[in-house]
Amino acid sequence: MPAGVKAEVRAYQVYVNGEWIDSTSAKTFPVYDPSTEEVIARVPDCNAEDVNRAVAAARAAFDHGGWPQTTAQERGRILFRLADKIRQNAAMLAELECRNCGKPIVEAEFDINDVATCFEYYGGLATKILGYVNPVPDNAMSLTLKEPIGVAGQIIPWNYPLLMAAWKLAPALAAGCTCVLKPAEQTPLTALELAKWFSDVGLPPGVVNIVTGFGETSGAPIVQHPDVNKIAFTGSAAVGKIIVKQAADTVKRVTLELGGKSPNIFFADADFEAAIDGALFGVFINQGEVCSAGSRILVQRPIYKKFVDAMTAKANKIKLGAPLERETKMGPLVSKEQYDRVCSYLEIGKQEAKVATGGGRAKFDKGFYVQPTIFYDVDNSARIAQEEIFGPVASVIPFEDEKDAVKIANDSPYGLAAAVWTRDIFKAFRAVKALRAGIVWVNHMQPTYVEAPWGGYKQSGFGRELGPWGIEEYLETKQVHINLNEQPIGWY
Ligand code: NAI
Ligand code: MG
Repeated sequence: MPAGVKAEVRAYQVYVNGEWIDSTSAKTFPVYDPSTEEVIARVPDCNAEDVNRAVAAARAAFDHGGWPQTTAQERGRILFRLADKIRQNAAMLAELECRNCGKPIVEAEFDINDVATCFEYYGGLATKILGYVNPVPDNAMSLTLKEPIGVAGQIIPWNYPLLMAAWKLAPALAAGCTCVLKPAEQTPLTALELAKWFSDVGLPPGVVNIVTGFGETSGAPIVQHPDVNKIAFTGSAAVGKIIVKQAADTVKRVTLELGGKSPNIFFADADFEAAIDGALFGVFINQGEVCSAGSRILVQRPIYKKFVDAMTAKANKIKLGAPLERETKMGPLVSKEQYDRVCSYLEIGKQEAKVATGGGRAKFDKGFYVQPTIFYDVDNSARIAQEEIFGPVASVIPFEDEKDAVKIANDSPYGLAAAVWTRDIFKAFRAVKALRAGIVWVNHMQPTYVEAPWGGYKQSGFGRELGPWGIEEYLETKQVHINLNEQPIGWY
């Protein structure tokens, strides 16, 4: 679109029971382009009544619609066909993702490729859900069967909108569950685009339902609904805690991915150039709106000053700009709310530590742009070292030795990710064992693969997504005992 031309404001409906419908209240809310602050779409503002409708559709599709009884091969093929649609329409999806959440187009393209890969992976895994024969000490055959949990409520955030939808939907569908998905209110558009292909690829009505709306009015009713068997949530720790409490009333299975304050640890013997790159990539990719952001940068004393200087020099060259421009390396934050939250942490940081670079709004007339910011001489007890900021803000903390590094790294309520940079394999492996985190990278930070597990220790949540672990979270385990003795038990 040429500069200065306003995008059309598209009106979306929600997808429930295989149909496109409005919310029962007919209310809608606006969706923005965070780089222009303009409204680009309106979506239904769903409430508890809309959630009831979606859950009823998912329940019926599970209980009577035959979805759990489809063959694993058929479910797998549906996921492959959905992946094909995503690949054929990747450019459209990447552009929409880019416009709606502000991430650079090149990153959005990576994300959409990962979305398709996720559906392909779980399409293949559908036929590899295996049971066991248990060696019980009796004349019996004991089996373990894996069965879908039922209706899954899936509540996702705005930082990787379609990828988070894929991480939730793909394993659930492969397992034979039905779904009610609620995208984040800031970024519902790509999930709604995806739904346009559901019936073409062969998903029966009610198997996936998408409701759009806000957390308390459309998220909480999913969590509280007695006909929902499982909640999968990615988002803030504050909301994760509410969800666990609310899910307790109906003993729902819950998995949570709640972000963190992940340490990225640099020993003095690390490859210096690679280290600087890794520190910046770890914390500034996706504008720092990453659950595993390496937002605490721990640097060993002998290289500390040189490290801060080199990081600063390179951070100052990061190209901020319009998300759709291919040279852009950092776009705006997703929303005014997130911009305000990050800016408030910038003020807190100025009280708590020294500013190497950044510390304020980036100079654009419009858009929620924040400068890449590096605080140094940060004490690990500072708020900017303990609280998740979820923006382009790094806290650099010096350390003395290995023991000190591990102690600082683990001194956090979170435990999603960690990384360690060194050329000494003994040191690296000792750190891998000592770090309390669900993911530990050595000499890298952030690569994530659908084949490997993802999830946190401590207050970063529980349960694991991706890989075989991810499908396990959508399966119940049934024990089957088959008596092979034909005589009565003979006890009485
Ligand atoms: P949030 O946790 O409020 O929102 C995430 C999702 O939960 C959205 O779909 C939202 O509508 C839904 N939600 C909100 N309240 C709910 C409730 N009571 N019941 C059910 N669903 C509810 O996150 P928010 O406010 O957008 O961001 C706040 C902070 O959360 C960020 O600054 C960041 O620190 C963290 N966050 C972490 C993410 C991660 O990947 N782990 C992703 C997004 C945010
Ligand atoms: Mg919130």
